[in-house]
Amino acid sequence: MTMRTDYCGSLRASDIGREVTVCGWVDTRRVHSEHLAFIDLRDHTGIVQCVVDEKLDLRSEYVVAITGVVRERFEGKGNDKLATGDIEIGEASVELLARAEPPPFPMHERTDVDETIRLRHRYIDLRKSRMQRNLRTRARVNSAIRGAMERQGFVEIETPMLIASTPEGARDFVVPSRLHPGEFYALPQSPQLFKQLCMVGGIDRYYQIARCLRDEDLRADRQFEFMQLDMEASFVTQDDVLAFVSEAIKDAVEAITGERPADIATMTWREAMERFGSDKPDVRFGMELVEMSDIFAGTEANVFKVDCVKGILHRGGAESLGRNAIDALTDKCKRWGAKGLAWFRVGEGGVLDGALTKFMSGAELAAVPERLGAEQGDMVLMIAADRRTVNHVLGLLRLELGRPPVNEGGFHFLWVSEFPLFEAVGDNGRPVPAHHPFTMPHPDDMDKLDAASGEEYLDIRSQAYDLVLNGWELGSGSVRIHRPEIQSKIFELLGIGVDEAQLKFGFLLDAFRFGAPPHAGFAFGIDRLAALLAGEENIREVIAFPKTQSGTDPLTNAPTAIDPAHLEELGLRLLPPSV
Ligand code: AMO
Repeated sequence: MTMRTDYCGSLRASDIGREVTVCGWVDTRRVHSEHLAFIDLRDHTGIVQCVVDEKLDLRSEYVVAITGVVRERFEGKGNDKLATGDIEIGEASVELLARAEPPPFPMHERTDVDETIRLRHRYIDLRKSRMQRNLRTRARVNSAIRGAMERQGFVEIETPMLIASTPEGARDFVVPSRLHPGEFYALPQSPQLFKQLCMVGGIDRYYQIARCLRDEDLRADRQFEFMQLDMEASFVTQDDVLAFVSEAIKDAVEAITGERPADIATMTWREAMERFGSDKPDVRFGMELVEMSDIFAGTEANVFKVDCVKGILHRGGAESLGRNAIDALTDKCKRWGAKGLAWFRVGEGGVLDGALTKFMSGAELAAVPERLGAEQGDMVLMIAADRRTVNHVLGLLRLELGRPPVNEGGFHFLWVSEFPLFEAVGDNGRPVPAHHPFTMPHPDDMDKLDAASGEEYLDIRSQAYDLVLNGWELGSGSVRIHRPEIQSKIFELLGIGVDEAQLKFGFLLDAFRFGAPPHAGFAFGIDRLAALLAGEENIREVIAFPKTQSGTDPLTNAPTAIDPAHLEELGLRLLPPSV
């Protein structure tokens, strides 16, 4: 026999006449007379009003079981805001299960509570409907993902937490070894190398809801520890991976919203950069970057005598952006790398008005508004520089001016493919990898690996792809290099010598010598997906026990000092704190 017959939030008019027992926390109590009190009782399903006809000493958050008969509320006493608002539990008797101290913050949803206080008493914060809803959303996302991966033949495999370093590019968290003093395990930044070993091991289709740890600065979409849906498959192409992951994503969205999203479009990285100035374009709104370099090919205006000129159109901006706002935007553009911001108000008949018009030809003045489809009252914003800078700065300006809150306007997923293989060229002339060094180059660019030098490296495409949702990077993956001769070539280009490669990834390279299947994979952040599906802007809101922005846990006080004897046992001695 369980203690209760029903959940608080589940009672309806159809239950009238039943004797029920509900359990939970006292949300509010209103004492009417010495013998009559109204108690709103709360559990994770909601709140029900109970009418108690006895003398009681009950306070907020006391834990009780209440038994009584469900009855209709008096005429005019219903509460539209409660799902149980038509009924109440009458003739109720109360069993006190536990007393409670007053909660350290108001339990009512609308009050803003300082984050540290919420996290310090997270167990109380979790009682609120927002956290209840978010954690249950997250659980449904996990369950949907598991179902989708299993239906597609993927096997769940757990990879170790105490490992040697993984090449994801963030700082490792390390764990000292007691049995091997002076030596350390790294906590996995991802299961990357192990999942590739699983492919060599003939697992064929691996997945894991994997805990990953990265010692990096925390932000709204970053925690030290986070969860990925991590997957890898053998004898597949990029398109297969996109299809597997799309299926899991669609199932997750459907589980939460009840609607199955449309097929997810794919855009190349190049197109994303040219149209949106970002490798994670927020495609919920337009304001796309428009090419105008051709208009200024023979210009007399010095500002526009550069490689690339592009612009965006801010509808209605001529009125909404005052002089101060424009100055602030100009400062931002300079901080982002531009020399300045060219801006024009659009007047009657599409006539441009701005400080730069006097340097522009009639043809230029006519072509700019026409190209952008500008109308009276709009604002034209242009950047002139090298192409990378133009795209970068206009991409940020576009977000600044047009971006809706991340949880508005539905869910707009996008695949971004053909990421560059290298993201920069170092001072030593060597390219710097954009993903990890096991990413397969694009088949059409394979011969460029030998021919390229300097900036040409940046044009080499890879078979790496990202999944984007409402301007957030949700996940990344790639087709991997499984042939040793291509891997050696990449290591050589990156300046990773044979010895260094052996030291860092020797176990993977050794494994590949024993017959590696072609393979490809992907991982997306479950915290990020769950946050967006729950309508939250910060992933902390979908994590039961997150860290604060400064990486601490006010609940357990982690990180803490450890006992000197423990340090001794680990063979460690602390340096005095640096000032
Ligand atoms: P990547 O490093 O891009 O790829 O990570 C994949 C996704 O994990 C999520 N993520 C994070 N979420 C919260 N906090 C963090 N600190 C954090 N860091 C990453 C993001 C990100 O898109 N092994 C490769 C995948 C592969 O190639 O298969 C990897 O981990 O949503």
